[in-house]
Amino acid sequence: MGKNIPLKNVLIYGAGMMGKNIAFVFSSNPVWRTVVCGRREVDIFGGIRAACAPLISRGIIGAGEFERRLSRIRFTKDIEDDGVRNADLVIEAVSEDMGLKQEIFEKLERRCRSDAIFCTNSSVMSPSEISSKLKYRSRFVGTHFWNPAHLIPLVEVVKSDATSEETAAAVMEVLIEAGKKAVLCKKDAPGFIANRMQHALWREAVYIVEQGIADAKTVDEAVRYSFGLRLPQLGPLENADMVGLDMTCSIHSYIFKHLCDSKEPSPLLTTLRNEGWLGFKSGEGFQKWTDEEKNAAGANLNEYLVNMLALSITKTARQ
Ligand SMILES: NC(=O)c1ccc[n+]([C@@H]2O[C@H](COP(=O)([O-])OP(=O)(O)OC[C@H]3O[C@@H](n4cnc5c(N)ncnc54)[C@H](O)[C@@H]3O)[C@@H](O)[C@H]2O)c1
Repeated sequence: MGKNIPLKNVLIYGAGMMGKNIAFVFSSNPVWRTVVCGRREVDIFGGIRAACAPLISRGIIGAGEFERRLSRIRFTKDIEDDGVRNADLVIEAVSEDMGLKQEIFEKLERRCRSDAIFCTNSSVMSPSEISSKLKYRSRFVGTHFWNPAHLIPLVEVVKSDATSEETAAAVMEVLIEAGKKAVLCKKDAPGFIANRMQHALWREAVYIVEQGIADAKTVDEAVRYSFGLRLPQLGPLENADMVGLDMTCSIHSYIFKHLCDSKEPSPLLTTLRNEGWLGFKSGEGFQKWTDEEKNAAGANLNEYLVNMLALSITKTARQ
């Protein structure tokens, strides 16, 4: 696959939020054809149009180019479709259910070519376990796209205990060709790479509120107006190098004993959950959310991501 084995046919199995947007990612190359397989008739094109509207209104994708990209995507609800039999690359994006994912890959293995590469978009589940019932486990790998998949560049390519080097390398290459920032997670570790760090931060954020050090709004502001600003430009390990590993070491020796190291969700979080304070879903979590505020939060995030994308395209064009 990639330069050595040309990729032509992509199958996305699962027509939900992630599946639709991943299909759009693979429409970027005129040579590739993408089939989305869902269990019932759904208007994936309406979903893609809505998700991509800000890209078109900002001129990041021209209207003509967008229609050409849509014409490279086809929907089927038939697992016996040619798009399944001829797939070079399969990306599963069905609901987060281990039994369901295992069953679907067994069905696909009976129908797909024996050299097709299988990928799972699971956010947390082990690719070793998902692929455990398959015959050809070496050509199975995790591909963790982030939501919204057409706007967030990262895809974590997660090796299982059986993924071959060739499979991981081929998938990395295809994702890069599709315009994604592919990173390799060398071990099947829970949380892969980015979610381990994200939830380490969330654990401490909840702990700060629980300990009465600051309220929830202040915690978010402290991130947003400080190291959150640096992060897109300077990763934590680059930052450690910048300030010096000697200094990093002495900060860690002083502060680590004061940080949360709980192996369980925080008592504050579980109490809020038990009392039905679920955040957006119930209108109140760490803070109150009106419908307008919820809509604005979603819209602002999308606008920010589109702006970041526009900026990175301009930067690449200048280089
Ligand atoms: N939503 C996110 O933020 C996010 C981010 C990264 C990864 N993921 C992962 O992507 C996967 C899909 O998540 P989503 O957010 O698109 O969920 P979703 O609920 O929007 O979509 C899941 C789809 O799976 C389909 N499905 C369920 N059973 C099926 C079956 N037997 N055959 C065919 N299709 C079936 C459903 O009809 C639905 O269309 C999950 O593994 C999830 O963990 C989600």
